[in-house]
Amino acid sequence: MTEFSSTGYWEDRYKSGGHSCSGSRVVLSKYKVGFLNKFFRNHKIDSVIDLEVGDGQVAQGLRVPGYLGVDLSRSTLDLVKKANEPSMHKRFMLSGDLEASGISSDVTMSIDVIFHLVEGDVDDCHMSTLFDRSTQWVIIHTSNFDRPGDPSHVRHRCFSAWIHANRKDWGLHQYNPNPHFSPPKAKLPDKTFAEFYTFRRIG
Ligand SMILES: C[S@@+](CC[C@H](N)C(=O)[O-])C[C@H]1O[C@@H](n2cnc3c(N)ncnc32)[C@H](O)[C@@H]1O
Repeated sequence: MTEFSSTGYWEDRYKSGGHSCSGSRVVLSKYKVGFLNKFFRNHKIDSVIDLEVGDGQVAQGLRVPGYLGVDLSRSTLDLVKKANEPSMHKRFMLSGDLEASGISSDVTMSIDVIFHLVEGDVDDCHMSTLFDRSTQWVIIHTSNFDRPGDPSHVRHRCFSAWIHANRKDWGLHQYNPNPHFSPPKAKLPDKTFAEFYTFRRIG
């Protein structure tokens, strides 16, 4: 059996005209954008790195002076760049290029990404980048329990255990119960198993 590759899966999905996922559509997207813009306002955030921008539905609604959207898929980045052309404050780059750039920001965020990182080493790399590229805040929107996924491009992870083990200089700022929450098995429209967690550098 061929091993699943998240990189191959997402590039193929975007190339063939696919979208990010149900979490980026209407109700859930509105909730995510509302939460993020309020956070940016309340904490006077100037710069954000969005670790994996996807189809850009969320990115389009964000209001922050400096926004950098990153994704592994060139196909989706081309489309998202076009859709955001009027905005002088939004830039986009391939995940691989971020590594070499040395760029950091007030906030880094991972929105509906961690439960798509099926391979363990990929998850480790994503988490490290998330915390290494932020000067103050990390925002995560995902599930926080270990469970094999259904379908194959989903793998639930207890990401807070990774932070506890690997980033002693960061602490949980707030867990935000999602009003649209439902457990993974329910698969209800306009519901999600992902919730917002914000972390702050304490060291
Ligand atoms: C469901 S989308 C979320 C997009 C966006 N953050 C949102 O909330 O609309 C998941 C994203 O994770 C990215 N992704 C999946 N596997 C990845 C990997 N191995 N490395 C980096 N990004 C990955 C995909 O490119 C995809 O854009």
